[in-house]
Amino acid sequence: MDKENLKRQAAARALEEVRSGMRLGLGTGSTAKHFVELLGEKVRGGLDVIGVPTSEVTRADAERCGIRLTTLDEIDHLDLTVDGADEVDTRLDLIKGGGGALLREKIVAAASDRMIVIADESKWVERLGRFPLPVEVIPFGLAATRRAIEKACGDVGAAGELKLRAGKDGHAFVTDGGHWIVDAHLGQISDAPRLAQLLSAIPGVVEHGLFIGIAGTVVLAGAEGIRTVE
Ligand code: 5RP
Repeated sequence: MDKENLKRQAAARALEEVRSGMRLGLGTGSTAKHFVELLGEKVRGGLDVIGVPTSEVTRADAERCGIRLTTLDEIDHLDLTVDGADEVDTRLDLIKGGGGALLREKIVAAASDRMIVIADESKWVERLGRFPLPVEVIPFGLAATRRAIEKACGDVGAAGELKLRAGKDGHAFVTDGGHWIVDAHLGQISDAPRLAQLLSAIPGVVEHGLFIGIAGTVVLAGAEGIRTVE
């Protein structure tokens, strides 16, 4: 079975948790897009939900699918967020941000009672870090922020190359929040919770892609079928 099919299966399984009346966080990425499309089908069939998108791309997808949208300024919390991930480890800690939406994704997940991560089995890892860790930064003072990120990574034994993410036009990729992303190629991160703390303490860092203790459930679709880890 191809990967897109697996992603859609994981999305379909998460959709089984959705009930009428729910307020939903809508993730970003190719797996989350499957969820939005399947949710749209249910909405057109009468399911009554309202969503908060985690990116402008997801906003457009959700609008196209006929899903009613709101903001975190209009409602005080969300019942459930369904989102993809770049890596998931055995503690259900995540690397996210491959699609550049990590800041809104983390704000939305943190405002949710529950986060379900949907992914194909290739995202499941013993230890985080093979996927480059996205760190969203303020353009001002980039060199100083990079040095601080390097030091933080080195302090937890995870030294590696930092690369400023480029957009399609060859210039720096700009996030929905108007920031840039530095991808930290670390190989492996032995102490992700500690690195998360160190990165959060750097003034030029807006947010990082380590989601520690946020995901409650992971739905993984593979050739052998679907498994849920909680
Ligand atoms: C976007 C994300 C995505 O959830 C992550 O990159 C996974 O994407 P995909 O489902 O396309 O593999 O964090 O910022």
